[in-house]
Amino acid sequence: MTKTTRAKNPLTLTVDIGGQGIKGMPILGTDTPTAPRFRIKTPRPATADPVIHTISAVFDHFRPFDRVTVGFPGVVNHGVVATAPNLDGRWKGVHLEERLGAIAGVPLRVINDADMQGFGAIEGKGVEMVITLGTGVGAALFLDGKLLPNLELGHHPFEKNETYEERLGQKALDQLGVRHWNRRIDRATKLLRKIFNFRKLYLGGGNSRCIDTKLPSDVVIVRNAVAFLGGARFWELG
Ligand code: BGC
Repeated sequence: MTKTTRAKNPLTLTVDIGGQGIKGMPILGTDTPTAPRFRIKTPRPATADPVIHTISAVFDHFRPFDRVTVGFPGVVNHGVVATAPNLDGRWKGVHLEERLGAIAGVPLRVINDADMQGFGAIEGKGVEMVITLGTGVGAALFLDGKLLPNLELGHHPFEKNETYEERLGQKALDQLGVRHWNRRIDRATKLLRKIFNFRKLYLGGGNSRCIDTKLPSDVVIVRNAVAFLGGARFWELG
């Protein structure tokens, strides 16, 4: 590929840090994956050094690429981690963007994982909300394609004195089973509609595949690959 085509159509490596796995996929332009997803188990304890080491193995698997987006499961401000509720050890204050950027050797941004996924899901019109269902529960909110970053809805009360994450996260799904968990999903989407008056709500993350309740037309399940597209679209929209 010539330099000019590449400049117009850069190859973005998207990395998604999850509680169970660290996954990568390269995206050409904003929507064309060029290789299958590659996944390494999240090291435990998931402290900064082993996680960074694992991410650098994901980089090595996919080199070369033009730029990287990393989705982190916690609050990230200008590349610096503030919280990491489902990882281990002390993450607060880690300048992850700087550390990973030095390893990648190309432009690299670290953003919240739900925010990243959101960029892949939204249409860019009106109020759009994204909820990710995995180990944790992530949330993202957009107005006309503009992100309100780090919406930590997962840790807010939902019902029975428990948070969205406590009631809808991986542990709850394991304990309750799919049927009851789906009822909670139903109640949560109804409540979220009342609070946020979204035009569309997207449900993503690994456990969105367990949703089997009938959803209204403004609530849409998004494929997991959307997270990776989000990493590429972020550079155009973010
Ligand atoms: C974190 C969020 C994250 C979500 C999904 C939550 O526990 O607080 O920042 O987006 O998990 O990983």
